[in-house]
Amino acid sequence: MQYGRPEGTFDILPPIPAGRNEQRPYVNDIRHWLSVENTFRMVCHRYGFTELRTPVFESTALFHRAVGDGTDIVSKETYDLVTRGGDKLTLRPEGTAGAIRAYVSDRMWNARPVAKLLYLGPNFRYERSQRGRYRQHHQAGVEVLGSDDPSVDAEVIDLACNFYRELGITNLTVKVNSVGTVSCRSAYLDALKRYAEPLLQHMSPDNNRRFNENPLRMLDSKVVSDIEIMSGAPKLVDYLDADSASHFTQVLAYLDLLNVPFEIDHRLVRGFDYYTKTAFEIQTPILGDKALGGGGRYNQLVEALGGPHTPGIGFGLGIERLLITLEELGLNPSVQSTIDAYLCPIGADARTYCVPLLKTLRSAGLAVDMDYLSRRLKTMFEHADGAGATYAIIVGETEVEAQTVTVRRMENAQQQSVPVTELIHFLQTSK
Ligand code: HAM
Repeated sequence: MQYGRPEGTFDILPPIPAGRNEQRPYVNDIRHWLSVENTFRMVCHRYGFTELRTPVFESTALFHRAVGDGTDIVSKETYDLVTRGGDKLTLRPEGTAGAIRAYVSDRMWNARPVAKLLYLGPNFRYERSQRGRYRQHHQAGVEVLGSDDPSVDAEVIDLACNFYRELGITNLTVKVNSVGTVSCRSAYLDALKRYAEPLLQHMSPDNNRRFNENPLRMLDSKVVSDIEIMSGAPKLVDYLDADSASHFTQVLAYLDLLNVPFEIDHRLVRGFDYYTKTAFEIQTPILGDKALGGGGRYNQLVEALGGPHTPGIGFGLGIERLLITLEELGLNPSVQSTIDAYLCPIGADARTYCVPLLKTLRSAGLAVDMDYLSRRLKTMFEHADGAGATYAIIVGETEVEAQTVTVRRMENAQQQSVPVTELIHFLQTSK
């Protein structure tokens, strides 16, 4: 009996050894994951962020409160479970709620007036799976807590763009909007509903449902007839209060100052209740209407989760979507993984000789592996190549007796004898 993967998930595996003319899709190749994760950490470090890790499950109530009962995510997509002890838990569908919960639990504001946090990890949404949409997806995200300054909004958007640029992706569209505060949004919602009600019969069943459950999301519909109708709808930006309007203008000015090209998108509302003021998404033509990443400001969320009034802003970037984009663009984020040497023992005595030698070399900081299958020398060389070894180290009877090894440089097959006492020095200096 073999077991398959659950729908909407995939395995991230070691690369296919070099020399075989095959490649895994990027999303299945661990090298690419490690590489983009490292790049994300490095870019965030430049911007003054530190990492936080929170549980993959949290209380169900947290997500209802933070993300919102009326959202698609909470009403249709969460993985909910009741533990044997009767606790109601939910696999996290996104990173912000847990990060803010941790910020409040730790009373982080005491030590950090402005907390700049980054995170990486899996999220779970029961969605119809397809390319670029999975039931387990991974996000790289940041959250900045403690400042309502519009320069922070611009910095966060700039960080995301720089991360993509660092990986070679330049053809990006940054869409920005302001969703205002809860009170200006409610005036807007009245106007939106007044506009939409007589047109409902011409709109999709989804938009009819949204009209009652979450009218703002009507703007988000991907159905052509809905888009046409909603293009004539009142614009949120015309309902912003003075503070939100001035905030929005300043964010755009800072984006200009940072040379971040953007488009204002009046229909961009995003699928979370927690957003206030700035909302943004980053798109690439490669993914069509699936966003590479998105985020926004949430100035009421910390308070809603039991902390003091603390403004916040952040984003989440889908790693799978990023890897799909890199693959389509032919950009390879990873360097070929290599090791310094691959030991090739010939015979039982040579193997006994190699086992402590392997340990000595590793203790000296060298990356070394060995053949464990007593194969023919030619096959061992092939595996040394597959492992990306700079040298194969051949040890036979003669070498054991003479306390030497034969070192073969893989790229040109040149061999030379090296006393075993000098091997560490040789490998360290002849890379
Ligand atoms: P989100 O837009 O739901 O925002 O997700 C962020 C990104 O995660 C998306 O743009 C997309 O790249 C990726 N993503 C989401 N769902 C899936 C899926 N089912 N399959 C593949 N990729 C997916 C958030 O989650 C917010 N927490 C972002 C944020 C942080 N806002 C403020 N701070």
